[in-house]
Amino acid sequence: MNPVIISITQSNFEAIPEKCRSCLYWSFPEETEKLNSKISATNQKLIEKKKQSLLHTLQEFGNCAKILYYNDVPVGYAEYGPSHRFPQIKEYKSQPIGQIDEGVVFLSCLYIVDETLRRKGLGEKLLDNVIADLRGRGFTAIETYAREGSMNNPSGPIELYRKKGFYVKDDANPEFPIARLDL
Ligand SMILES: CC(C)(COP(=O)(O)OP(=O)(O)OC[C@H]1O[C@@H](n2cnc3c(N)ncnc32)[C@H](O)[C@@H]1OP(=O)(O)O)[C@@H](O)C(=O)NCCC(=O)NCCS
Repeated sequence: MNPVIISITQSNFEAIPEKCRSCLYWSFPEETEKLNSKISATNQKLIEKKKQSLLHTLQEFGNCAKILYYNDVPVGYAEYGPSHRFPQIKEYKSQPIGQIDEGVVFLSCLYIVDETLRRKGLGEKLLDNVIADLRGRGFTAIETYAREGSMNNPSGPIELYRKKGFYVKDDANPEFPIARLDL
């Protein structure tokens, strides 16, 4: 069956794959530290915080997340937006990440949650969908921290981005370079 990709709206937050629904890594780094110590007690609060944060980005920026369904099950997730919405960026050595007033959008996450569905082209389809969305809205570039040598990274391995035409903009940390696609 073909995958179906839909944008996040004010009413489908609950369809975001569970792992991503409470993930505040990019937007609220201090909460991620808390989570490591007290997982379940704070989980509902984190989910609500994530929801409010996404709705804020949606209102400020428009489409900012995509859910990929495969056989009617949500198995993939991508999130993106203005870099000022992701303060975790300042912890990365490769800099600077572009700003929204220059038309540059930051891709914070690209994830196929079900590992048995990886390497079947779904991640690439999800990325294509994000690129088409941003190109259609007139943005100038998309940037992400791709990882060299491992796919264990919020937006996955550098190979995927090279395949889609991204180039390395800054590799002050060669393991986590900034990959950029000019749109
Ligand atoms: C990154 C990710 C979304 C890619 O999705 P995918 O469906 O497995 O990737 P695709 O099958 O579409 O692969 C497209 C291209 O990406 C590259 N690629 C994908 N996985 C790769 C890997 N493990 N190693 C090297 N290259 C890889 C290849 O160039 C591939 O093209 P090819 O199949 O023609 O060689 C997926 O691997 C993933 O979710 N990784 C974990 C990311 C993560 O932990 N996010 C954290 C969220 S909190």
